[in-house]
Amino acid sequence: MGEPLRFISFEGPEGSGKSTQAGRLSVWLRGLGATVTLTHEPGGTALGEEIRRWLLHCDADMGPEAEFLLYSADRAEHVRTVLEPALAGGNFVICDRFVDSSYAYQGYGRGLDLSWLRAVSKKILRVQPSLTFLLDLPPEQGLKRLADRDRLEGESLEFHRRVRKGYLDLASTEPGRYVVLNATLPEHELARRIQEEVSKRWPGLSGL
Ligand code: TMP
Repeated sequence: MGEPLRFISFEGPEGSGKSTQAGRLSVWLRGLGATVTLTHEPGGTALGEEIRRWLLHCDADMGPEAEFLLYSADRAEHVRTVLEPALAGGNFVICDRFVDSSYAYQGYGRGLDLSWLRAVSKKILRVQPSLTFLLDLPPEQGLKRLADRDRLEGESLEFHRRVRKGYLDLASTEPGRYVVLNATLPEHELARRIQEEVSKRWPGLSGL
């Protein structure tokens, strides 16, 4: 069997520390000699940063379908201009959120039909992570860690509970891809577990 696609995503609720861990993993991989593209959604392209502003800070009313389609527009551009070229060039891609965020937030959180979300996403998902770290945390704790709240972070606790349940459901249906970690562990311990898992999946790394 060949090496798994060098595409790793980080998922989790607000305040779970996934951006910190994505950053730490990229530093560690670079230290081993790997070329790494560290990126995020929404955003990660010039158009994506514009879309991110609409999604997180626009005051206009936005229905769940429009919200999902904006995340998908962002993703389509991100896959086409960043992820595909980086993976084709042999880079490791570390992505802070990917399509699982749409399933958890717009599917479980907003109540959109998951099969519709998957059908729309199918065209866009020409590349998919071979490994996803879910940094799991009760929403009460994650929200407490935030200084300001954007449009989604300001949603009710019930909404964030549905998102968490969504992530855990998604993880249980794909145990080979997902690694669920307790986000309340100390930062260095989480980083150690993440490195251990990555070393297991890419055993050739130390010889880069
Ligand atoms: P961030 O704070 O991790 O950058 O994510 C921005 C917000 O966007 C966060 O509240 C989760 C949300 N989100 C979705 O609702 N659906 C998606 O598909 C993505 C990528 C993010």
